[in-house]
Amino acid sequence: MDHFHQVNGVLHAEDIALPMLADAVGTPLYVYSRATLTRHARVFRDALAVLPRVKLAFAVKSNPNLAVLKVLAAEGYGADVVSGGEMERALAAGMAAEGIVFSGVGKTHAELARALEAGIGQFNLESEEEGLELAEIAVRLGKTAACALRVNPDVDAGTHGKISTGKAENKFGVPYDRAAAIYARLATTPGLTMRGLALHIGSQLSRLDPLEAAFTKIGQLMQAIRAAGHAVTHIDFGGGVGVPYKAGEVFPQPKDYAAMVARVTQGWDITAMFEPGRVITGNTGVLMTRVVRVKEGVGAPWVVVDAAMNDLARPALYDAWHDFAAVSPTGETMEANIVGPICESSDTFAMGRTIDAVKRGDLAVFRTAGAYGATMANTYNSRPLVPEVMVDGTKWAVVADRIEPATILAAERVPEWLA
Ligand code: LLP
Repeated sequence: MDHFHQVNGVLHAEDIALPMLADAVGTPLYVYSRATLTRHARVFRDALAVLPRVKLAFAVKSNPNLAVLKVLAAEGYGADVVSGGEMERALAAGMAAEGIVFSGVGKTHAELARALEAGIGQFNLESEEEGLELAEIAVRLGKTAACALRVNPDVDAGTHGKISTGKAENKFGVPYDRAAAIYARLATTPGLTMRGLALHIGSQLSRLDPLEAAFTKIGQLMQAIRAAGHAVTHIDFGGGVGVPYKAGEVFPQPKDYAAMVARVTQGWDITAMFEPGRVITGNTGVLMTRVVRVKEGVGAPWVVVDAAMNDLARPALYDAWHDFAAVSPTGETMEANIVGPICESSDTFAMGRTIDAVKRGDLAVFRTAGAYGATMANTYNSRPLVPEVMVDGTKWAVVADRIEPATILAAERVPEWLA
């Protein structure tokens, strides 16, 4: 469910007509609906309320915009961060340091130290080496780091290979068979308080059974670690719940996910932590674009739009599907290849797709672009960095400026010895 809908034949975000935003801000442009964001945040949170103790850490990487984080902070979300930059954003949005979880295989010495100083709530350690390094910094700073050990459960998440993270051959976490020994060592290392286990097997999961298999394995590991005399009070189940990108696709709902977790974790006596990203932000945004021209093609015409792979990388990177819809549809359809202006063939959004008929100058949107959209944008081909707008009922605001090439040029230098 989202709040992008047709009113008198024109696509609106809540009460705002998209053509008005295109006139005011230009295209390409991400448009977020606050009501949709709030709704998804609440549906997920309320579904998990069936569990005794829950902590929610929004996966900032899916949409790090400050206004988005601010809305989620007000809904009781903390943050799952994977870099010093994401941590600064979460803090800037007013999220309590205690509610921040720091994940990632490559946290640097400087990032670990800064996070300790900021007093973040939990480090998800991805290796014994990282734990020992963190312990050393903590002792030096006179602090204790609350930690979970991220375990690689060696389960196939059944999603795209590039966003699978829970197979033994993926770089994430410690091997399942070594986890109990590493936990025991870190639990007796000064500077650390080992409080739990963490896992995340992949993103855009369309089925619950790989998650259930992984959670069950983590439960067995938890029992073994407890039996060896160590405390396990927190389990971080990661993110990964998928969303439909194509009209008609059916995905597990948050309440199905919550019921599965409740069943698997019955009697575990833990605080259950979650790191949802896409399920919260995916439907919250669209990428609005304007048709630059329609060019004759082989099989189908090329619809060249002013958005490109630098603005929305998912189709180029993962062959991902994003529904394409005209802002003012005529009711006619056409077969088209939708491409951006970038000078490589990977700049393709869709091939041979039946879409709303569009012509030069028309506005259209790529749907379900609120997660892993603007956050992955770049300035390839010296294009501007795409701006973002948030709509809230009849109000709207630019929540990220379009960064023009002139601004980027101003940060580049020609050394004297070339002048
Ligand atoms: N926790 C950890 C440790 C993660 O690595 C991720 C995502 C999440 C939580 C959130 O996962 P979600 O609930 O959003 O599925 N750029 C890719 C997705 C990469 C996901 C990376 N990790 C895409 O556009 O599909």
